Amino acid sequence: MNILSSLLDLRTKRLSLDGKVGLVPTMGYLHPGHLSLVSRAKAENDHVIVTIFVNPTQFGANEDLSKYPRDLERDLELLKPLGVDVVWNPSAEIMYPSGYQTWVNVEALTNPLEGAMRPGHFKGVTTIVSKIFNATQPHKAYFGQKDAQQVAVIRRMTLDLNFPIEIVVCPTLREDDGLAMSSRNKYLNDEERKAATVLFRSLSEAKKLFDAGERDADVLRNKMKEVLGSEPLANVQYVSCADYDSLEELNLIENKALLSMAVFIGKTRLIDNFVLG
Ligand code: PAJ
Repeated sequence: MNILSSLLDLRTKRLSLDGKVGLVPTMGYLHPGHLSLVSRAKAENDHVIVTIFVNPTQFGANEDLSKYPRDLERDLELLKPLGVDVVWNPSAEIMYPSGYQTWVNVEALTNPLEGAMRPGHFKGVTTIVSKIFNATQPHKAYFGQKDAQQVAVIRRMTLDLNFPIEIVVCPTLREDDGLAMSSRNKYLNDEERKAATVLFRSLSEAKKLFDAGERDADVLRNKMKEVLGSEPLANVQYVSCADYDSLEELNLIENKALLSMAVFIGKTRLIDNFVLG
């Protein structure tokens, strides 16, 4: 496993890799959800590149950039047994040279949901992912359904900018009690950790209604709000039942839909989603 930080070293190494290359971009502090993307990339490609970079431009001024968990040594130990060829861990100076002023921005798709709550977030994501795509030149890139809007936005960007890259979406890995794995779960104390299962429970209850034939989006949104409201530590930021492709809120569910939410458990902001249909 080559652990590289400079862009020149990465480019030189990339030129030596024959065959299909799979990319898994991450911000590190890896958990089994990230590792499932790596395993999938390994199974579907000749070589795998994992990037670890806590991207400052996708964090808002009041967000957790400075305390975002980091442990490169631990991440490398987790990646070693998975047959990863290259780990690229660039510095912020490499990714954002002094005087930086070039951005990639996806329009309408970034307006609702996470985009509405985290202004500028997706501009940071699409910019860094474009730069990582340019640097690593993969055939396939792997992303988690956990970040549903991120997947939609990156797909749109890949199409719009003609990147010759296949975007592969991998299922959300969960703890035994349903909590979606996330680097941010580390912030939860014991009581909050128990309360955090309410996201999964509310999505499950809404899906039950859908599976029983309910197609009124308001009924599903209300069910999610009702279950979330039963948890005193939960503070709901948004609850959505939207079209899977456009992310516009629905009245009636006729095609593939996305149930999604952002909920504060104490000070920790968690997101989760289910795809319907
Ligand atoms: P990060 O939060 O580190 O996540 C890296 C990848 O792992 C993303 O594609 C994310 O959707 C996926 N992932 C996270 N939790 C998961 C889970 N429980 N199951 C399956 N996949 C999961 O997402 C980012 O980093 C950044 O925005 C990035 C794309 C790297 C750009 O900076």
